[in-house]
Amino acid sequence: MIYQKPKGTKDIFGRETRRVEKANTLARAFFGQNGYEEIKTPTFEFTELFSRSIGENTDIVEKEMYSFKVDERSYVLRPEGTASVLRAVIENKISIPARFLYIGTMFRKEKPQKGRYREFLQLGIENLGKAEPFYDAETIYLAREFLKLVGAVEFRIEVNSIGCPKCRIQYKTELKSYLEPKMNRLCADCQRRFEKNFLRIFDCKKESCQPVYQAAPMITDRLCPECGEHYVKVKNFLNLMGIEYAENKRLVRGLDYYTKTVFEFKSRALGAQDTLLAGGRYDLLMKELGGGDVPCIGWAMGQERMLLTLPENLPKIEDPKVFFIAVMGERFAQELLRLRITVIDHGFICFMGNPEAPIKHQMKDADRFGADHVIIYGENEEKEHYYTVKNMKSGEQVQVLKDNLDKFLTAVV
Ligand code: HAM
Repeated sequence: MIYQKPKGTKDIFGRETRRVEKANTLARAFFGQNGYEEIKTPTFEFTELFSRSIGENTDIVEKEMYSFKVDERSYVLRPEGTASVLRAVIENKISIPARFLYIGTMFRKEKPQKGRYREFLQLGIENLGKAEPFYDAETIYLAREFLKLVGAVEFRIEVNSIGCPKCRIQYKTELKSYLEPKMNRLCADCQRRFEKNFLRIFDCKKESCQPVYQAAPMITDRLCPECGEHYVKVKNFLNLMGIEYAENKRLVRGLDYYTKTVFEFKSRALGAQDTLLAGGRYDLLMKELGGGDVPCIGWAMGQERMLLTLPENLPKIEDPKVFFIAVMGERFAQELLRLRITVIDHGFICFMGNPEAPIKHQMKDADRFGADHVIIYGENEEKEHYYTVKNMKSGEQVQVLKDNLDKFLTAVV
């Protein structure tokens, strides 16, 4: 019997692992330099954390969480990272302002398709304690710079503002009087959503609902003075930073905690699930979870989706060259270890051959491991103070004087 992985999960190995790990290394360095410290939170949390933050009436909480009970307590595998970060900040009394980076697996029981999994990797940042519009633009800027750094090139940025509870009260009344006479033209989901989670209706993809929403009043045009001014300033900073974006008044997001600015990075390479990275401001969530009055903004990116958008030939995350060291005889074991350290110090991948094995076997092994170069060392080399280096791709073999090995390795690209 051959075991299969559960529906909606994915094995990541080989080149994909290297690409994800390289992106993670770049993220730690890049966001580290921008003041973001990595945080690791548990993969499961108490259910209430997410129902409270993401919202009782969202798709995620209503039908997509993996939940289980242990000793009468109800837990879920985390569907996202933001709520966990805030919970950790409150619980550990971490001082604000604070900036966090997180990288980890999330779980949602969605219908699997290209770019949509039930267990997926997210890389996200949260900037806690800053209310000013500059930071909305900075967060978007850092997302764009990071995507450029990992080599994802084809994406477009959409922004919107969905205001605050103050703007929404008035707006909901206006939207209700617009929709009431047309309610019977809306799908059952939208009719239900309007009562519980009214902004979400704009996310409906059904053709029957589209014409109704085309002429509907939009929250973006009904912001209170404070939210309106905030939004204008965010767009102004985006322009000053040279960030190209489109305003999408129907961008409302699927999680309830957002206030003011929301944004998504989309890529055509992804097909139907075209959102590569998404986020926004959530100024009320910390308080909602029992913390202080702390305005926050952040985003998360799906890493499997990131992989789908990376071009085949990626100069920035080129795989390092592979070396194989073949020494002839166990008395060269010390030399083997010394050589390994030198090769690794140059950033290459290094395999060590078994010194007791005949050179023919070691060369075969080097081939199996996909070595680009084999460094050979035996009696002749010892006597004459050199290494033989074979280029496995061209078959060319050269003698490199011991003292010149560093120079030789530096020239290998
Ligand atoms: P989200 O839009 O639910 O936001 O997810 C963010 C990203 O995670 C999506 O744009 C997508 O790339 C990826 N993603 C979501 N669901 C799946 C899935 N089923 N399979 C593969 N990838 C997926 C959040 O999670 C918020 N916590 C983002 C945030 C951070 N907002 C503020 N701070």
